[in-house]
Amino acid sequence: MSNVSALEGLREEALAALAAAPDESALEQWRITFFGRQDGRVTALLRAIKDVPASERAAYGASANAVKQELEGALEGRREALKQAALRALSTESALDVTLPGRPQVIGRLHPVTQTMRDCLKAFGDMGFRVAEGPEVEWDRYNFDGVRIPEDHPARDMWDTIWVNTLIDGKRHMLLRTHTSPNQVRVLERTPAPPVRVVVPGKCYRQEATDATHEWMLTQIEGLAVDEGVRMSDLKGVLYEWSRQMFGQDRKIIFHHSYFPFVEPGVEMAIDCFICRGNGKECRTCHGTGWIEILGAGMVHPEIIETAGYDSSKVTGFAFGIGVERVALLRWGIEDIRNFYANDIRFLSQF
Ligand code: PHE
Repeated sequence: MSNVSALEGLREEALAALAAAPDESALEQWRITFFGRQDGRVTALLRAIKDVPASERAAYGASANAVKQELEGALEGRREALKQAALRALSTESALDVTLPGRPQVIGRLHPVTQTMRDCLKAFGDMGFRVAEGPEVEWDRYNFDGVRIPEDHPARDMWDTIWVNTLIDGKRHMLLRTHTSPNQVRVLERTPAPPVRVVVPGKCYRQEATDATHEWMLTQIEGLAVDEGVRMSDLKGVLYEWSRQMFGQDRKIIFHHSYFPFVEPGVEMAIDCFICRGNGKECRTCHGTGWIEILGAGMVHPEIIETAGYDSSKVTGFAFGIGVERVALLRWGIEDIRNFYANDIRFLSQF
């Protein structure tokens, strides 16, 4: 067989094998068979140029190169054809439309209570309050005794406490703080002299039945301002300004007298009920009162001022404790506080 007809035979064989190759791995097998560096059959024919008689060498070399190039081109062509066929099969056989746009990524956002918290802290920050923090697992001497609620004081019942079971000298002293007020004592204790102007954000815990406005975990912001000549009107001014920033001009605010052992006098501040507008005897949110209480406040009790080592004949102060979830309820007209921690993304993604 002449060298040239051997070339032609190989070419036909290779093209037929290529046309029959069903997938990418068959193509790779084909490449190794014909173009493998060691024993590839096309490789061998090219290498054989040196054995061809000199008179035929030029013609043989040219044909061999032409066959090599044709086969290389055919390999690429077959590879592309297989790829197209696979794509077509995907879109028709499996009902998957590869031309459809992708699904948009879901972008996370801040929890509505976190947003409300940050807006509150910003408003107080603009009025000169700095942020301090205290522990969520607290000692009873800060949570209760330090704010004038000794053991057996009936006011301890105002907060149904979740205690930590560790006994110290046979008694439980550690608890999940029921309010942020222990930080009044903590901040004063580490501040050698007035002025004090802080807000203390944080989670608090109460063992109580939940309803539309009560959760067993809640977020508070404690405010404390202590200096010479601080007055009740300063407290009202700060809280008015804060409510204006949180709720706008249109909401009504009311102060009621109230009792907390650590302030004298004490007040509660409420906002008009956005659900019933004061007309709903049966309203679940305001319980028919027309008002939703959002904070307790008052003038810091002189005993607490004295315990801090300040002279209570000169130094006075005010304190407040805001329920942040209540503020969020009012801002967005949410009917049930339990939504906040039910972890339903359909609820949370609205804010
Ligand atoms: N600590 C009180 C509560 O949790 C709120 C409060 C704070 C009242 C500061 C007066 C002054 O109910």
